[in-house]
Amino acid sequence: MEFIRNAWYVAGWSSEISNDLRAIKVLDEKIVIYRNSKGKVFALEDRCPHRFLPLSMGKLMGDNIECGYHGLTFNCEGNCIRIPSQKKIQKTLKIPTFPIIERHGIVWIWMGEKTLFKNYKIFDIPQFSESGWEVHQGEALYLNSNYLNVAENLVDPAHVSFVHPTTLGNPSSEDVPVEFDTSGEVIIAWRWIRNSPPIGFFKEFPGYKNNVDRWHYYYLYLPSIAVIDFGSIDSKEEVNEKNRHLGTQIFAIHLLTPVSKNQTIDRWMHIRNVALGDELVSEKIDSMFKIAFAEDKKILEAIQNQIDTQHKKNFVHIGIDKGAIIYRKRISELIKSEARDKILSHS
Ligand code: FES
Ligand SMILES: [Fe+2]
Repeated sequence: MEFIRNAWYVAGWSSEISNDLRAIKVLDEKIVIYRNSKGKVFALEDRCPHRFLPLSMGKLMGDNIECGYHGLTFNCEGNCIRIPSQKKIQKTLKIPTFPIIERHGIVWIWMGEKTLFKNYKIFDIPQFSESGWEVHQGEALYLNSNYLNVAENLVDPAHVSFVHPTTLGNPSSEDVPVEFDTSGEVIIAWRWIRNSPPIGFFKEFPGYKNNVDRWHYYYLYLPSIAVIDFGSIDSKEEVNEKNRHLGTQIFAIHLLTPVSKNQTIDRWMHIRNVALGDELVSEKIDSMFKIAFAEDKKILEAIQNQIDTQHKKNFVHIGIDKGAIIYRKRISELIKSEARDKILSHS
C-alpha cells in the first residue's frame, strides 16, 4: 500500500496554521508548517539535516526556524542561513520544501513531483463561491483507518440505513438499489428514496413531518475528497434530479488527508441552500454530523483492526460496491504509473 503523490492534499484548515511551528504528517512524511509574519504559509521537511531533530521542536526567529539542538537556522525556502560558531555554510545544507496554496479557508499542500504542481487543479466546487449558499467549516475527525477504507465509505449510500439510523438513514432505504456513473473522473453513486418518512436529520432540520422524496448523491474525487449531496422535499412536489435544489439541499464535504498507513484525517464541512447566515442552524447540523461521523469512525476503525489482525485479506464484493471497486482500482493504477514515471525519470 502506498499513496498517490501527485495531488494537492489538505494540510489543515487555515485556522489551524498560525505564526508558530506545527508538526503535521501527510503521506507518512513529517512536515513542519507555519505562517510567516506576512501571513503566508510555508511547509518544510520536519528534520534538521545535522542530527535530524524535528525542526518543529525548534523556534521561530522572525520568519526563520532555529533548530532546537545546535541552532542551525533555516529560512522559509529551506536554505540554511546560520551555523552558530562557524562562518562557512555548506551549500548542501538545504531542507526540502512543499508548495502550499491557501484557498477557501483551507491550506493545500503539494506532496508530489515539484515541477508538476502547476498542472494540477485544487479541488473546488461552484457552491464555495456562488451566492445563495451557506458554507460552514466543521471539524477534523481523526480516524485510525487507512484512507481507502474511509474514502470507500464516502461513495457508499447503502451503509447509511444501518450505520446512521437516527440521522442520515432509516429503514425505508434499505432495499433501494444504488446507481452508479463511473464514466468520468469523478465516481458517482446515488439513490432516491421516494415517498417515505423523513430521516432523523431532516426531522430536526428543517423539520419535515410528512412523507418526503429524498436523495443521496456521492461524488468521489481522486485521490481522497468526497462531496455528498443529500436532501429532501415534500413528496407532493414531485421533484427530479434536475430540480432537487427546490428542496432542502446540503453538501457534506469530506477532505481526507492520508496521514500514515492506518491514520486518516477527515476535515468535513457543509454547504446548504437554506437558513443562510443562521449560526444556530449550522451548529445543529454540526451536532447531527458529529453523531453520524462518530458512527462511521467506529466502523472504519474496527474494519482496519480486522484487516490488520486476520489472515483472510480478500473482501467479497456485492452490487453496492461498484464505486468502491473502481476507486481502489484507479488508485492502484495511479500509484503504479507514478512509480513507472519515477523509474523512467531516474534512468
Ligand atoms: S540537530 Fe539541528 S542543529 Fe544539530
Ligand atoms: Fe457514514
